[in-house]
Amino acid sequence: MKCKIPRFMVTLTSLKGFNIHKENHRYREEQWVEIKTFELSYLCGTKDALKSAFYHENSNDRFNEWEFAETLLKSDGYLPKLCVIALDEENVVGYNVLTKAKIGSFPGQALGPLGVRKEYQNAGIGSALVKECIKRAEESGSSWIALLGGNYYSRFGFESGNYYGITVSENAFDNEHLQILFLDQSVKGRVSGRLVYCDAFYDADGNLL
Ligand SMILES: CC(C)(COP(=O)(O)OP(=O)(O)OC[C@H]1O[C@@H](n2cnc3c(N)ncnc32)[C@H](O)[C@@H]1OP(=O)(O)O)[C@@H](O)C(=O)NCCC(=O)NCCS
Repeated sequence: MKCKIPRFMVTLTSLKGFNIHKENHRYREEQWVEIKTFELSYLCGTKDALKSAFYHENSNDRFNEWEFAETLLKSDGYLPKLCVIALDEENVVGYNVLTKAKIGSFPGQALGPLGVRKEYQNAGIGSALVKECIKRAEESGSSWIALLGGNYYSRFGFESGNYYGITVSENAFDNEHLQILFLDQSVKGRVSGRLVYCDAFYDADGNLL
């Protein structure tokens, strides 16, 4: 799958940190960003892109998204076809992954981490990565995708898990950010209880990382 991003935006944002209005897109030269399945040869580029997306002054070594992407590769929850990257030529500029998860007895997938290299943000790459994973999950027969995140995800049809009695921990903040997208409408209302990620998402005491 390929999606177009405005070259002008990439050049200007990377050089000067500008935020350019979308109405001006039509004046820009366009370039292609390719969405494809992650391969090991892209690991360094992927970690670099995730670091660009997630790094902040309080980032730590105990848990960070760029090292976690590598940890997931060895996890039993890893689903190779549901791990995708965005490439600008051969440079990784975005990453998204779905891993095995359960809510009660219902298997499904958990989304994340999702990240787009800073200077490529707001050009549609995050949306393309999410939509590609949703499409692949649907094709694989998945019933639902859940995640912990902000209001970015409502545009893809994600709803609050609270409404369906879905929780992820004892932590109210985590539960407030729990969102779910039903791919199989017949399980809506029946999927309820605790969202359990694959083992890689928990520390030795069983707490979410
Ligand atoms: C969140 C992220 C993946 C979005 O990717 P992107 O390629 O920049 O997003 P898109 O271009 O597809 O979408 C841009 C739109 O999303 C909105 N958006 C971007 N980040 C958002 C956020 N954190 N919360 C809510 N809306 C957000 C933009 O305002 C823009 O809105 P508009 O379409 O109304 O103008 C990217 O900004 C990123 O990597 N952020 C840092 C890491 C992160 O927060 N990951 C998600 C963890 S839950």
